Amino acid sequence: MSFAKPFFGGNWKMNHGPSAARRFVEEFVALYEPHDDRTVVFFPPAISLAEFRAAAGARDDLQAGLQDVFWEVSGAYTGSISAGMGRDAGAGFALAGHSERRHVFADSDEDISRKVGAIVAEGLTPVLCVGEKLEERERGEVESVVTRQLEAGLSRLSREQVEGIVIAYEPVWAIGTGRTASPEDADRVHEVIRALLGEQVGETSGRAIPILYGGSVKAGNIEELLAAPEIDGVLVGGASLDPSEFALICNAGGR
Ligand code: 13P
Repeated sequence: MSFAKPFFGGNWKMNHGPSAARRFVEEFVALYEPHDDRTVVFFPPAISLAEFRAAAGARDDLQAGLQDVFWEVSGAYTGSISAGMGRDAGAGFALAGHSERRHVFADSDEDISRKVGAIVAEGLTPVLCVGEKLEERERGEVESVVTRQLEAGLSRLSREQVEGIVIAYEPVWAIGTGRTASPEDADRVHEVIRALLGEQVGETSGRAIPILYGGSVKAGNIEELLAAPEIDGVLVGGASLDPSEFALICNAGGR
């Protein structure tokens, strides 16, 4: 962990509607006390965001974000949600470029750069997700894929705006498969990302940008992942759906 304050993100994907979100929060608050040495952010489905906030009540250490946005502010875009609407419902963060958006919904690098721009314009913190597919890894393209995704994702931001973002490295082959990248593998890619960020904002500011790892993170592997020098936190899918398991993850890495 190079970063002073580890970041624990829970991406619920298309799980936990409003009533399940409330039940989750009621259980989770009993298992996870507020800590000022870490950041915990949930990404519920947008329809559950208001209920999540209401259930969290005074626990404002439990932050929330959107899983995706459309880049327009408002208008005739059936089914879409803007970053400003998310802010109004209590979101402080938004994911952009999650692999399921890229590979199930065909979000292009250009779409993702517009989304990142819209998220920043509304004052939310973007969590830009990057990561290679298995065939790209086997062809030795990890670095070129991650570099392309990162450069495109940041292309609409000023240097100051880049300093305010969060990056998540999520190798597609490790998502939902039970196959975690080894801490060494993840750390190597994080080093590539760190160097690219350093080129954009200078080495010192680049060091202050959190780089998260995502892909089959669970209570059983969190400590070894957080021990890797370049892993500043995690973005958790499946294991964030269960309050006890996610509380174990968020309580990890104590110093
Ligand atoms: P899993 O933790 O279920 O592999 O999902 C990772 C992920 O996609 C988080 O955004």
